[in-house]
Amino acid sequence: MTVVDLNQQRIDAWNSDNLPIYEPGLDEVVKACRGKNLFFSTDCEAAIRAAQCIFVSVNTPTKKTGLGKGKAADLTYWESAARNIAAWSTSDKIIVEKSTVPVRTAEAIEKVLLRNCPAPGVHFDILSNPEFLAEGTAIDDLTTPDRVLIGGKIENDRGTAACAALVDVYANWVPRERILTANLWSAELSKLTANAMLAQRISSINAISALCECTGADVSQVSFAIGKDSRIGPKFLNASVGFGGSCFQKDILNLAYICECHGLQEVADYWYSVVGMNDYQKTRFVRRVVSAMFNTIRNKKIAMLGFAFKKDTGDTRETPAIDVAAGMIEDGAKIALYDPQVPEEQVRMDMGEEAMKSITCYKNPTDALQDAHAVTIMTEWDEFKTYDWKEIYQVMHKPAFVFDGRNILDHAHLSEIGFIVYALGKPIDPFLKSAEGA
Ligand code: UGA
Repeated sequence: MTVVDLNQQRIDAWNSDNLPIYEPGLDEVVKACRGKNLFFSTDCEAAIRAAQCIFVSVNTPTKKTGLGKGKAADLTYWESAARNIAAWSTSDKIIVEKSTVPVRTAEAIEKVLLRNCPAPGVHFDILSNPEFLAEGTAIDDLTTPDRVLIGGKIENDRGTAACAALVDVYANWVPRERILTANLWSAELSKLTANAMLAQRISSINAISALCECTGADVSQVSFAIGKDSRIGPKFLNASVGFGGSCFQKDILNLAYICECHGLQEVADYWYSVVGMNDYQKTRFVRRVVSAMFNTIRNKKIAMLGFAFKKDTGDTRETPAIDVAAGMIEDGAKIALYDPQVPEEQVRMDMGEEAMKSITCYKNPTDALQDAHAVTIMTEWDEFKTYDWKEIYQVMHKPAFVFDGRNILDHAHLSEIGFIVYALGKPIDPFLKSAEGA
């Protein structure tokens, strides 16, 4: 297996002791295989020439300009990879689409490959093999996946043979009954649909969390009760300040855009509403912070614990913390940020120079919490649960507020200590009710 990238710095990092991404268990896998059957290189041409099978895993972000801007997937990197593969291939290849792509991308890529390969008689078989692993649990998801999905032109012999070749690769560690084959378009659409449905569950429970706060119901009890229905199941029902990550929003917008292109406006609107509910949840959280603190957070130090979009990753793409921080800065807050994995440079890139005038990044939680008026929990890092909250209460201004955007802390214990606690979808603290005049 040779992993190639044009970026020398990145490849150097993959060849060093400091891998360019943080993912539990990844270091061990790379160390065990690097130099034996796993190589990292910038020599794309040689790797393409030598390969029988090429996995294309390039970025497919949302388009920022032009037709479909803000919704459609930008396939620039995919097309450029395909052009290179075509230019350098001198033997038949199986091309595996790993990146998440709009439905029928394989067809477009096949055209690029066929029209640009100068070597005579070279044949490309295109397969779609969408990736279902989640960050933070990537290695477990890879070693014991719920399923592996391989889409190909199973209506003809060549396509079936290409599928079978990839099935054989996975069968080295995945039970065969978990390796599914489908036609190309079904595989591509399954990926977008899986992410859209997962995100929709979160938006649904987040919508209910707002209603819980008005009625006195407890969203955790509701999640538990509905999750016992085997048709619903217990996973992905944690109310949160909003879903983040590089995939959910991007894939839903992409799915909705494809629906629009096919004249299915009602279907598109249905999926847009999942993103709309996610935005509402972030705004609602900021509103709670401001109204609870007597309608002003101007110049108040607010500790933000966590910036990554979920625990066990340093990834901040589309993290709800960006919108929450921006919202609180708009109201004049001074944010004291601590995340165990996200470096200051990353926060700077996400928030921009202007916002950084109101954000201080700390390397430890103690300094972030000293003299703070409030704490907001943005990521469900386990370490936040282990802090000595009694001690934290002592060093904060009073009344000391905790806004738990992940529902991970022991709220009864915090209230006992003296904190005013707001937790998503939980019965509202009487102090907060009176602050809001409710
Ligand atoms: C997601 C999918 O879960 C993967 O199956 C898919 O392969 C991946 O996208 C992708 O397309 O590459 P990922 O974005 O890494 O994986 O992380 P998730 O665990 O799905 O979490 C996404 C967001 O939802 C996070 O912000 C998380 O905190 C939030 N979330 C998750 C909730 O708010 N509540 C929940 O109950 C679960």
